[in-house]
Amino acid sequence: MTIPYKHEPFTDFTNEANKEAFQQALAEVNEIMGREYPLVINGERITTEEKIVSSNPANKEEVVGSVSKANKEHAEMAIQAAADAFEDWRYWNPEERANILFRAAAMIRRKKHFFSALLVKEAGKPWNEADADTAEAIDFLEYYARQMIELANGKPVNSREGESNKYIYTPTGVTVVIPPWNFLFAIMAGTTVAPIVTGNTVVLKPASATPIIAALFVDILEQAGLPKGVVNFVPGSGAEVGDYLVDHPKTSIITFTGSREVGTRIFERAAKIQPGQQHLKRVIAEMGGKDTVVVDKDCDIELAAQSIFASAFGFSGQKCSAGSRAVVHADVYDQVLERVAEITEQKIVGNPENHDTYMGPVIDQGSFEKIMGYIEVGKEEGRLVSGGKGDNSKGYFIEPTIFADLDPNSRVMQEEIFGPVVGFSKAESFDEALKIANNTEYGLTGAVITNNRQLIERAKREFHVGNLYINRTCTGAIVGYHPFGGFKMSGTDSKAGGPDYLALHMQAKTISEML
Ligand code: NAD
Ligand code: ALA
Repeated sequence: MTIPYKHEPFTDFTNEANKEAFQQALAEVNEIMGREYPLVINGERITTEEKIVSSNPANKEEVVGSVSKANKEHAEMAIQAAADAFEDWRYWNPEERANILFRAAAMIRRKKHFFSALLVKEAGKPWNEADADTAEAIDFLEYYARQMIELANGKPVNSREGESNKYIYTPTGVTVVIPPWNFLFAIMAGTTVAPIVTGNTVVLKPASATPIIAALFVDILEQAGLPKGVVNFVPGSGAEVGDYLVDHPKTSIITFTGSREVGTRIFERAAKIQPGQQHLKRVIAEMGGKDTVVVDKDCDIELAAQSIFASAFGFSGQKCSAGSRAVVHADVYDQVLERVAEITEQKIVGNPENHDTYMGPVIDQGSFEKIMGYIEVGKEEGRLVSGGKGDNSKGYFIEPTIFADLDPNSRVMQEEIFGPVVGFSKAESFDEALKIANNTEYGLTGAVITNNRQLIERAKREFHVGNLYINRTCTGAIVGYHPFGGFKMSGTDSKAGGPDYLALHMQAKTISEML
């Protein structure tokens, strides 16, 4: 009997013992800096000449590690290995598959701070964000394992006199997993273990900015008892290896999390039937966001300001859920804006290895340039209230930046910037604020800050996002509590960490037997 699911608690870093334990973990991670990691295909380690190097975004000279770089031949070998392993793995008892996830979760929990410390180094996450990322990875393992046990015997259907009907779930096939770098542990682990626990086999192509945590996770799965070939690890270029895996006729499912640009490309390519292909490919695509915090005139101003601040600048705004737009009622606009600027200016931006850093760097030079470009656009389109400067001499640091008085159709209010930039627009009424909130091509998360119950009910009906939050931030979904996924161009609304997620990886089969 498994104990009921409960999410992994977050670490309280005001507690001295926890603080010391985390500092110790950072020292341990320093010991493994610069190591090399091979490809893993059918359980075999393959080292290539060419490498993908992962460096610390807070200190670009520091190499976190490097992974071997797969080419098309390796991608082909990985697909064949996954296809072969599928013929055995698909018939494993679902409880045994789930037990591997439980064991892996226990192994990660035992070294929790070590993994979080690695996320600080590899992605520049401040301590609390890294801790939450590791907690979410553990949650995905614990939650999906339990879900699979529940689904093992299918779901009830009716039977008439003289017949026995059953509705069961069966695995689908080879699954290509393509995660992003921003939730480098949680999303990578969640999108890998969901196909595995449902009896599929996996070819994992990690994000090129953050392959080291993925290499360590593949080791953990193996140590937890995963048979060879069930997960194959092939870091490589999106254009070369990514396209090859997506196009392959033996690929059954592609589970992608990343930008709208790459996601829509995959969606299109996967629709084309390749010679020898005997099935339609399924695509789970979770993509970008341009998420809004709506503030009504009847609200708690401090709550509104804290919610806008945390939604915009947590992990330097590099979340699909980031509240990168604030739409505020004219009656409280100046007050809210002023308070957000005040909170922002008190926070420390710097090296995420320091306990008191609120915000670290952005991920790489490409992101740095893109975000700084948007800051220039913002200066033309609106009024710079706070921040606006960047410094990439040591790492990729950008000040948390606030623009006010933007037209709701301006680029800063419409396009995903994926950095520490928030735009404010004024609304004359709640009606207008909701219209503005719905006026992008995305529909991922949103928050409404109001004391007015009628307006809360209206937002529930008329604010078209996959994850709607009332009187809180629009970030921070928790597995099993806030199933996560977006509408419109934010994706296929797969609801990761929710009760319907595993079914997306399986084929339902109806069996009707005459008695
Ligand atoms: P990205 O689209 O650049 O890359 C995502 C993954 O796709 C990476 O592993 C990359 O190597 C791979 N890739 C690139 N080109 C490819 C190709 N041609 N074929 C196959 N794979 C290819 O995104 P990113 O910069 O890693 O992540 C940031 C984006 O992810 C943002 O837009 C963010 O909103 C989105 N995101 C969405 C969610 C969600 O749940 N909706 C969660 C996290 C991040
Ligand atoms: N799950 C992440 C959040 O909700 C993306 O912020």
